[in-house]
Amino acid sequence: MNYKNGEVMDTKIVKIDRKNIRPDDLKEAASFIRQGKLVAFPTETVYGLGGDALNETSAMRIYEVKGRPCDNPLIVHIADIEALDKLTEEIPKKAYLLAEAFWPGPLTMIFKKSKIIPHSTTGGINTVALRMPSDKIARMLIQESDCFIAAPSANTSGKPSTTRAAHVIEDLYGKIDMIIDGGASEIGLESTVIDLTGDKVIILRPGFITKEQLEKVAGSVINDQALLHQTQEGSVVPRAPGMKYKHYAPKANLIIYEGSTEKVTAAINAEAAKQNESDFLIGIIATSETYLNYNYGIVKSIGSRSDEISITSRLFDLLREFDALGVSLIYTESFNDMKLGHAVMNRLLKASGYQVVYV
Ligand code: TXA
Ligand code: MG
Repeated sequence: MNYKNGEVMDTKIVKIDRKNIRPDDLKEAASFIRQGKLVAFPTETVYGLGGDALNETSAMRIYEVKGRPCDNPLIVHIADIEALDKLTEEIPKKAYLLAEAFWPGPLTMIFKKSKIIPHSTTGGINTVALRMPSDKIARMLIQESDCFIAAPSANTSGKPSTTRAAHVIEDLYGKIDMIIDGGASEIGLESTVIDLTGDKVIILRPGFITKEQLEKVAGSVINDQALLHQTQEGSVVPRAPGMKYKHYAPKANLIIYEGSTEKVTAAINAEAAKQNESDFLIGIIATSETYLNYNYGIVKSIGSRSDEISITSRLFDLLREFDALGVSLIYTESFNDMKLGHAVMNRLLKASGYQVVYV
């Protein structure tokens, strides 16, 4: 069955046990990619919605099924460093140093694109974002397909990214050809995106690889203007086209509380107590450290502040869980004090529409 004008198609679900991956497990998925079909697959960051990056029709279908604005470029996933020569026009020395340090892994680098990449993959621009994922299933899919795989996060545009196959099923079942279920994504936040096309290395999207880590390898690194002015949406035009759109948003209204733990807990409790009188369901994002301090609403622990990846890996999952429960208001603690605080707050600020209460 073909997907046309919103018509429903068969979506094959393939479960892979990552502790025991067999050589044939990815054969069909790889042949789907070669045929121009769309396959959602796990990566160490989030699930990706993959298609052949050099096939214009695949790229266009990715935009269509996600409902993604067509000027927002896709990341091209590669499995070996030789791909750089084929896909880029110019490779700065720093790229090799950064690749050596962080690839395979959650870092995306932007280069001037070579001619073989269609503009439908890059949203019409002359640069291309490349990432070599470390996830075993993702790597095997790229290698087995013998393609470069264009893959945005496998969610409906605007919704929280997907970190489990169940999330992908929720958003894309009946619209794509296959979903590979490889369990939960380890990191749960999308890759760090850096621009290497100018004199300075610029972070366009913060992620698991931090500014400090990048600086150790590439010298001075700067945050894009749009990231610095995040609390006033729209005040600076973002360089990564994706940053200007509404993102990661749950159905519920999300509000961030910023301040000392005692003040945040007290303020959220006071607000939740007021809302408790109404018919609205309230959700609270707490940590394992503060979980017991809240007295109203549906309180969920996102993880422990002493284990940051426990927090990053649960963020999108938790937003989707609250949606499923029909919560209409979510209060969350702030995570600015963590090493990965910049990356987590970037997602939370967008998901909340920049609603922060300072206490
Ligand atoms: O971790 C990840 O990066 C995941 C997994 C699947 O690899 N992918 C992902 O893709 O998050 P996506 O499409 O949801 O986000 C890509 C971001 C967008 O903000 C986009 O605007 C930016 O990267 N981007 C892609 N190509 C670009 C380019 N040539 N110039 C500037 N920004 C670019
Ligand atoms: Mg995305």
